[in-house]
Amino acid sequence: MAKMDEKPISERTLAELGATTPAAVVAQFDSLRQRFDSELLANDNPQNWTTFLARWIGRKSGEIGKISENWLKTAPPDLKRIVGQELNKLKAHVEAAIEEKRKEIEAASEKAAQARDQIDLSLPGVDRPIGTRHLIRQTYEELQRIFLSIGFSVVEGPEIETPYYNFEALNIPEHHPARDNMDTFYIESSRSGHLLRTHTSPMQIRTMEKQKPPVRIIVPGKVYRRDNPDATHGYMFHQIEGLAVDTDITFCDFKGTVEYFVREFLGPQAKTRLRPSYFPFTEPSAEVDATCHVCGGSGCRVCKFSGWIELFGAGMVNPAVYGFVNYDAENLSGFAFGMGVDRLAMMKYGISELPLLYQNDVRFLSQFP
Ligand code: PHE
Repeated sequence: MAKMDEKPISERTLAELGATTPAAVVAQFDSLRQRFDSELLANDNPQNWTTFLARWIGRKSGEIGKISENWLKTAPPDLKRIVGQELNKLKAHVEAAIEEKRKEIEAASEKAAQARDQIDLSLPGVDRPIGTRHLIRQTYEELQRIFLSIGFSVVEGPEIETPYYNFEALNIPEHHPARDNMDTFYIESSRSGHLLRTHTSPMQIRTMEKQKPPVRIIVPGKVYRRDNPDATHGYMFHQIEGLAVDTDITFCDFKGTVEYFVREFLGPQAKTRLRPSYFPFTEPSAEVDATCHVCGGSGCRVCKFSGWIELFGAGMVNPAVYGFVNYDAENLSGFAFGMGVDRLAMMKYGISELPLLYQNDVRFLSQFP
């Protein structure tokens, strides 16, 4: 048995190993080959592969090189031939075995890579549900379709307004009681008292300031009020404003337009009623009612047994407003309206709770594909 401090056989000469006959030489080579074979077999971790290669066929410290150095070079003339033959056999054996193993490793890693990359087309795909247009958006689009078809065009304006556009120029002076139900949010740091618009009506003013008559516009947008949230109120809601001004617009045009709109939006069976109302920027003013969409006018809980449902506020443009935009009040006339889009959507689709429109619950939203 080899002692612990004995050098490995490849670092000793054949003479030192006591191999003085051809048979003894062959036996030494055999035992070396057996070691190689068993090490190769044991080495199944591809990460150790380079170390293994260096140990056996490495240029400087490889076993084969050492054998050539320590066994072949030092062999006595009568043994040189057999040592040379045995060394060549061992070399060929080692090289062939290494080549085979290399192929095995490559094949295995390729297989692993393939398995990693493989796409199983029979598996169900990743489902990425496609959303739908929100009911508010759908309602806006429906409203716009109706008004675009009769010659209105769409303009949009700022949600942060000055008191001038939101109130004064709309004939609502500072201490006018009409401001009460439009109490709103003011921007604290603004010296000019900027506020969140309470209606889309400021865009009536901004449009007429910029544009000469005729004017025929609708204005979709968000508006804000300091309301306590409940089933039908929120601090924000959506409006669509309408304004038509020209030299010859009569109350009949106003009424005809409103009736056309109601029939388009609610269906040909819907009837319209104008009820006197008050807005500082229209005169006369009206609330536009339609026959109840639930009972058709005979009276039910939804319309509080009146047969009518209030749709929106409207009226003929108050000549006082023309004074704020340098329009000739003597020769111009027009009408305006402001609709609550959330309200119209709730009515048309039978939704009882306003918050449902903002909670983004898919179970609710998917009912309006
Ligand atoms: N701006 C009004 C409101 O928000 C609605 C309205 C608009 C009324 C235009 C008449 C004319 O209540």
